[in-house]
Order: sequence, then structure tokens, then C-alpha cells
Amino acid sequence: MKKIETVKQILGEQWQAAPQHTQGEAFAPSNIALCKYWGKRDQELNLPVTPSLSISLGAKGATAKLVITDADRDSITLNGKPLAADSPFAQRLIHFLDLYRAHLQPKFDITLTSNIPIAAGLASSAAGFASVTKALDQVMGWQLPAEKLAVLARLGSGSATRSLWQGFVEWHAGERADGLDSRGAPITQTWQDLCVGLLILNKKEKSISSREAMQRTVETSALYATWPAKVTEDLANIKAAINKKDFTLLGETAESNAIAMHATMRHANPPVNYSLESTNSAIQKIWDLRNKGLEVYFTQDAGPNIKLLFLQNEINAITTHFSQATVLQPFLTA
Ligand code: DP6
Repeated sequence: MKKIETVKQILGEQWQAAPQHTQGEAFAPSNIALCKYWGKRDQELNLPVTPSLSISLGAKGATAKLVITDADRDSITLNGKPLAADSPFAQRLIHFLDLYRAHLQPKFDITLTSNIPIAAGLASSAAGFASVTKALDQVMGWQLPAEKLAVLARLGSGSATRSLWQGFVEWHAGERADGLDSRGAPITQTWQDLCVGLLILNKKEKSISSREAMQRTVETSALYATWPAKVTEDLANIKAAINKKDFTLLGETAESNAIAMHATMRHANPPVNYSLESTNSAIQKIWDLRNKGLEVYFTQDAGPNIKLLFLQNEINAITTHFSQATVLQPFLTA
């Protein structure tokens, strides 16, 4: 099935309607998966093999502004700089927008502003596609509920389906071939004193996209066979941890899930390794500090950066040991 079929099903008659406004602007938070999405059952539709669960980052994320233009092509400005139309991210964005304008729909001046580094494993493509989807909803005047926008955002980038909400979000893998049941859904529980520390070790673009790396893992890593069962167990533990406010269970599970994901990709052929020496040293430091009684855990996505997980009462200790960390309190800033 093609992406455009999903779009037509979600939008119905609105798919062919003319834009209602000349511009739209929206923010979407970045999200960090505590139980990761790694591997697709459908590459075209970004349908995952397993469910996943994330926490959104409050005011950290992306703002998208779409302005209808008379020009014959889209223009994209990313963090104040024009983005070449043939760059991979621009191509993905333009193809995504094309899904909504098969019938003489307009070209856009797109301004994307992200307040976290792009494409360095801080899930900024998730916030990017979620914010563009919300901004499109405004220009076009669809007034779709977040549940439907989450299905559309998934077509841009899988993890974007979790960036339609603040707080904890579960992406239900779904079973349908058309993917209409595969989308993010908010979890009502909050956790006021939960903190995330962003340890930005390298701002460069990643060497291999998560898209390519996860596909290579599915196709060539024998360890990938163990991944679905690992997710089932971890997801249950993370939900239980959120229910009981059991931080040890949350931290241990999220860290173990990230380590398992990176193990599956290291076993791919050719191997995928997103860690730098600075990543490994930070991880060792976290383990050493934990052995000394500081309750801090980490998670890592498709890049070298580390996200620390800890509780509010440890903020001082964390900033003492990791002076470059940006401390976020997702439930206070949301
Ligand atoms: C490691 O959502 O960027 O961050 O669907 O191909 O766009 P595509 O992949 P993407 O993958 C994110 C992978 C991850 C884990 C996660 O966020 O769950």
C-alpha cells in the first residue's frame, strides 16, 4: 500500500479541498523513547515491528511555519539557513508535502526552527514532521484531531507519531496492513520529578540514517530475532514503573532497552555503531556514579549523544558531574 492511500483514508473529501488559509504555524516537542522503535514491518508506511514508548521534551522541539507561495517550488529554511532542495531531509519533507497536493495544491515556503541539534539522534526529525503535520492542518483548515494527525505524521517519520503529545506516549504498533491503527496515544500518568539530561557530545549529522540502520539490522542481524520479546518485556516494565513511580525499574529498563537496541545493530552486516569515544566514556561515568549511589541511567538513540534519566532531587549532583548537561523537567515545562 502507498502512503497516499493512508492520506486519502484519513482526509476523505478534504484531500481535494483547497487550502483555507495562507499560512500555518505549529510547535511539536521532541520525544525520547524509553522503549525504542527499531525495525519496520512496512517500510513505505513506517509501520513498526513492535510498539514503543516515549517521553516528550516539553519546550524542546521544532516549530514549523508553512506559507503558501506563488513560486513553482517549495523553499525550506532550517534554523535560519536555506536547505538545498536535493538534501535528504528536504527530499523527505517535499515528498511528504506532495502527499497532500496531488490536485494542484500549492507550494510552500517552509521555515523549520528546532531548538535541539538536527539529525544527531535527538529525535528532531520526529518533532520536525509532527510540527509540519500540525502546521499543514492549519493551512488546509482540516481541523483533524491529534489521533489522526499522528497517523499522518508517522508517514513522514515513524517516531513523529509520538510527538503529537506532551508527557508519556505509547506508539501502538497496530495490526492492520493499512496502518490506520498504528499511531501514538498519550498515557495519562504524569511524573513531576522525572528529569532528562541532554548530553550533547557531537552536533554533526549522523553517518547513517536511523531509517537505513534499522533496515540493515532487520535484514542482517541475527540478534534482531530477540528484539520483539525484549520490547514486550520492557514495555510492560516501563508501564508498571510509571504506574508505581518506581524510578529504579524505569531507569534500569530504559537503559537496558537502549543497550539491547545498539547490540542488535552492532551485530548487523556491515555493523552499525553510533557511539564515539566520548559516548563510551559518558556511559562508563554513569555506571561508576551509579555504583557510588547516584541514581542516574541513560538512553541513546541513533547518534552519539546520551540522554540521562534521573529524579529532581539529583539535579545538583548531575550538573556537578555533567556540567555540559541541559536539564529538562518534561512534566514541569509541558
Ligand atoms: C533510534 O523515526 O527516525 O530514535 O521512521 O525511518 O523516520 P523513520 O525512523 P525514526 O527512528 C527513530 C529510531 C530511534 C528510536 C525511537 O525513537 O524509538
